[in-house]
Amino acid sequence: MRFDVLTIFPSLFEHHPREGILGKAIEKGLVEIYPVNIRDYALDPHRTTDDRPYGGGEGMVMKPEPIYGALESVERKDRSIVLLLTPQGERFDQAMARELAALEQIILVCGRYEGVDERIRELCIDREVSIGDYVLSGGELAALVIIDAVSRLIPGVLGGERSAEEDSFSDGLLEYPHYTRPREFQGLRVPEVLLSGDHEKIRQWRRAESLKRTLARRPDLLEKARLTPQDLALLEEVKKELQGGVHQG
Ligand code: ADE
Repeated sequence: MRFDVLTIFPSLFEHHPREGILGKAIEKGLVEIYPVNIRDYALDPHRTTDDRPYGGGEGMVMKPEPIYGALESVERKDRSIVLLLTPQGERFDQAMARELAALEQIILVCGRYEGVDERIRELCIDREVSIGDYVLSGGELAALVIIDAVSRLIPGVLGGERSAEEDSFSDGLLEYPHYTRPREFQGLRVPEVLLSGDHEKIRQWRRAESLKRTLARRPDLLEKARLTPQDLALLEEVKKELQGGVHQG
């Protein structure tokens, strides 16, 4: 997967992505990240990328020519898409990450200031994307979030023992709790079932914990989750437990 990131802060993409899982993916050649400095495509000697809004008002707007020029400089692959990061976009989620991971190239346009000139949206942008209902100072952090979430889904990026399939949201539920050594920490013990060696029991316990957690924290996710008849039965039990105030496990 190739990511081309149009930004006025290209250095933000030179360090962060080189660490951890993403760093390894780049080393292995599975992911490429090319920052493009929008300022390099400004038309004036001062390399201006923003200007005052027509019609007046607060703030500055990103000029169309530098972004247009920067986009034209990017070599396009067959299966590529141009995204604009903006709080006005459709909400990024795991389903969108999966869709994007099937492409060869994602071109990310990072807006700053009050936004980008509307004609860039009309002429060049395939999809506008927001990472959540809050306003960042620019699209750069949002671009890093998308690069990270999409890269994890590319075959070979996660090592053998880790699987994106097991992550939260892969089947629409939140993850179960995790424990490692020591068995007891600050008076809190690891649940007995995890020490039992009974893989089927452990699987059931984890599934029940995932369902409980999702019901408690993100009940909205249950509507879209892929649930088996066994899950639905478990869920009913969990709901009864919660209503009855019975404390278990
Ligand atoms: N730019 C500013 N805020 C943003 C957000 N929430 N998502 C994507 N891009 C943004």
